[in-house]
Amino acid sequence: MPPIWRRFIPRSVRLRSRLRLKNGRWRLATPDRVMLEDVIAPEFLGRRDIRRMLDVGVAWYTRTYPRLYKGIEYHSIDVDPAMQRIAGRRHHTLSMTDLATVYPADTFDLVVCNGVFGWGLNTAEQVARGLDACADVLRPGGWLVVGWNDMEGRRIPDLDALAGRRFDRAVLPAARADHLVTPTHYAHRYDFFTRR
Ligand SMILES: C[S@@+](CC[C@H](N)C(=O)[O-])C[C@H]1O[C@@H](n2cnc3c(N)ncnc32)[C@H](O)[C@@H]1O
Repeated sequence: MPPIWRRFIPRSVRLRSRLRLKNGRWRLATPDRVMLEDVIAPEFLGRRDIRRMLDVGVAWYTRTYPRLYKGIEYHSIDVDPAMQRIAGRRHHTLSMTDLATVYPADTFDLVVCNGVFGWGLNTAEQVARGLDACADVLRPGGWLVVGWNDMEGRRIPDLDALAGRRFDRAVLPAARADHLVTPTHYAHRYDFFTRR
């Protein structure tokens, strides 16, 4: 439950205080978002082996992502047909668990799955199916970034065991670690893997 005073501040004003201007675009300025945009995305932009990527899940604050990842062929999916309107050019209305129905094997060098586990695919079985589908469309050695909230009600049940079936943990050079925990009250974190 948000503090009572927040109810008296218009949503537009509250939102503006959480925005920042970057490359001429307004972007969400929460610490997890800043980490994704300023640390994780630049790592992949600087790599010659990352040419085509899939972003799973679309939101108003990811509208600028085809531009954020400029230089990488950017594809996205969302299970919600309403997201088609705000998505980029290369978008499919599709569940992550059905990736192989649209994309051939080895299509992507990078899959970013942020805020989907715990926000749609919630049970261990659903997460396992989502991870499996990612492995099917990633080339061997391709990267998977999983962003999720390590809190009651959103937590992924045993991500390591589930991902370990098809992926290895990988150190992201920009982070010098195989995961990053952000200073957010919802304990948002990113875990990095490569496909075997
Ligand atoms: C919290 S938003 C995350 C948006 C974005 N990925 C990000 O970086 O924050 C969750 C989105 O995931 C989508 N989603 C939930 N389950 C999905 C699934 N099985 N396949 C694809 N998208 C899904 C929802 O429709 C929603 O738009």
